[in-house]
Amino acid sequence: MSTLQLHPLSPFAAEASGLDISQPLSQQDIQAIESAMDRHGVLVFRNQPLTQTQQIDFAKSLGPLDLGFRRVRGGPHRLEYAELADISNVKADGELADREHAKIVGNIANQLWHSDSSFQKPRAKYSMLSAVTLPGFGGETEYADLRMAYDALPEWRKRQIEGLEAVHFALYSRFTLGDTEYSQEQKDLIPPVSWPLVQTDPRSGRKILFVGAHACEVKGMTLAEGRMLLMDLLEHATQREFVYRHEWQVGDLVMWDNTATVHRGRYYDFSERRELRRATTEEVSH
Ligand SMILES: [Fe+2]
Repeated sequence: MSTLQLHPLSPFAAEASGLDISQPLSQQDIQAIESAMDRHGVLVFRNQPLTQTQQIDFAKSLGPLDLGFRRVRGGPHRLEYAELADISNVKADGELADREHAKIVGNIANQLWHSDSSFQKPRAKYSMLSAVTLPGFGGETEYADLRMAYDALPEWRKRQIEGLEAVHFALYSRFTLGDTEYSQEQKDLIPPVSWPLVQTDPRSGRKILFVGAHACEVKGMTLAEGRMLLMDLLEHATQREFVYRHEWQVGDLVMWDNTATVHRGRYYDFSERRELRRATTEEVSH
């Protein structure tokens, strides 16, 4: 029996307690976390500050690790593991990044609704984000449940999008922010992939409306019609009633299922330090 306890925070997200995730987990605990993720999509662990190694070990117990956008933009890295994403406005030398620094564009791109690594195959399954340093104001993370979003679509829309596929490209959301300075070599490293707009979760059986900022066109549609459809669907998916807003405390670890939710960071003042670390697992196909 696992000692995992759950307390709802919203119609989908839940606070998880009763486990010390800094320590190796039993098989029962891992299964309990996976079942809780199937149901909730977002789990919040409070007061669980992790070392980098503890965070990597926790993530590894839940699946193979994903490298994400670092495949495109490598460069200097101040964390101990390439598989830990440095979600911060701090440069590799530990100093605050100035506004022109590439790191800040990444921060802004994270403020668009997205699913981590939807631009690659395999895509990301679980992201686990740990809060280290927080600004005095803002910088919350919001989550929207794509299963609730699908269920709430009108029937005509469900019929319209059944069988359609969207193309996801890592740099599309960057391009929309004017971040266009990528070499052909960098673009070739991460070619676009396509995902069905409507998916069925193999574990829960629930249908999912899979959209987000990396989706740039719909196969078989003109660019304009496809983009409008993607914008409409994302607007539908992220209406307030489907959103959980997480207000961070140092030591929080929030874990989400990228195949069932989208998320975005919220505004904060880039002249204040905000440092979080993310470990991510890859989806394993069944
Ligand atoms: Fe993200």
